[in-house]
Amino acid sequence: MEHAAAPDAAKVRADCDESVRGSCTEELLAHAEQPAEPEASDSQLAEERRDWWPNFGNDPVAEFDGAGVSYDGVPAIRDVSFAAPAGSIVALIGPSGSGKSSLIRCLDRLNDLVPGAQVDGGVLYRGIDLYGPRVDPVEVRRRIGMVFQAPNPFPKSIYDNVAFGPRILGLHGDLDEIVEGALQRAALWDEVRDRLHENAWGLSGGQQQRLVIARALAIDPDVLLMDEPASALDPISTSKIEDLMREITPEVTIVIVTHNLQQAGRVSDFTAFISVDLEEGGSGDQAGRLIEFGPTEKIFNQPSDERTEAYVSGRFG
Ligand SMILES: Nc1ncnc2c1ncn2[C@@H]1O[C@H](COP(=O)(O)OP(=O)(O)OP(=O)(O)O)[C@@H](O)[C@H]1O
Ligand SMILES: [Mg+2]
Repeated sequence: MEHAAAPDAAKVRADCDESVRGSCTEELLAHAEQPAEPEASDSQLAEERRDWWPNFGNDPVAEFDGAGVSYDGVPAIRDVSFAAPAGSIVALIGPSGSGKSSLIRCLDRLNDLVPGAQVDGGVLYRGIDLYGPRVDPVEVRRRIGMVFQAPNPFPKSIYDNVAFGPRILGLHGDLDEIVEGALQRAALWDEVRDRLHENAWGLSGGQQQRLVIARALAIDPDVLLMDEPASALDPISTSKIEDLMREITPEVTIVIVTHNLQQAGRVSDFTAFISVDLEEGGSGDQAGRLIEFGPTEKIFNQPSDERTEAYVSGRFG
């Protein structure tokens, strides 16, 4: 159900998704043209990074602590607190317009790319405030990968798309092997092994989506954010993506937004149900809130809140 009052709210959301995806692509491509960073040689830089990135082993990996997002002062989602344990898959479910994309983007500092957007409260990665003054958003996006609803391959060959991150980062190892491994994990290798040097834009939509997943995996991310990654895929590709999600955990922690409740039930360990206030005579506040967070089995079979019960049983949403 489209609850949002404004008839063009869905368009606002789609435009926003499009522009964030575009800005993210541009930023990554521009970054490639910059001179290589003085990684190890600049000890001060290395030290600063250690200062804010020291917490491998810290659990939870991703955490919201009273987090919210506003656009031009209007709250879209507010006061969300829950944590994604290391190595888990966390699903965000809830009606359209409740702020799921706004929330998941906080974990990659992608709302920075949206004019008028403001993030409040705590958004933590391995115990570190991602919005702290010394955190470099580009560094964040190297460790926390994001896959959008509509794929955004670069206008380069299939091979160069996947090799892109490892090349920038100067990752050690055989590049051909890294590319093949990432394409295998994204369940795309068999379809593209003979056309690696063709332009990625010639792939089908479903193949492009698996390609951008391979591109994200090629840099061994610590966290993978997925915003409705399978909504454009056929059932076979969808199930391949679900298998791959299971395969890359627990090394990678995954946060996924999905409208497909069966998918959330199948793949996730924990589920967060987010919704706006739908009660008659309610506050009229259209900001989304976290209604309930818990183990997926509990959220689907024995939810504590009747609104969750109504949503997961299909009585609203
Ligand atoms: N760039 C923007 N400018 C203004 N308002 C925005 C912007 N992006 C999102 N919003 C508003 O914030 C609210 C939450 O949007 P968001 O895209 O986060 O919801 P969602 O839960 O992901 O929805 P969907 O399930 O349809 O993808 C909506 O009311 C939307 O119109
Ligand atoms: Mg969304």
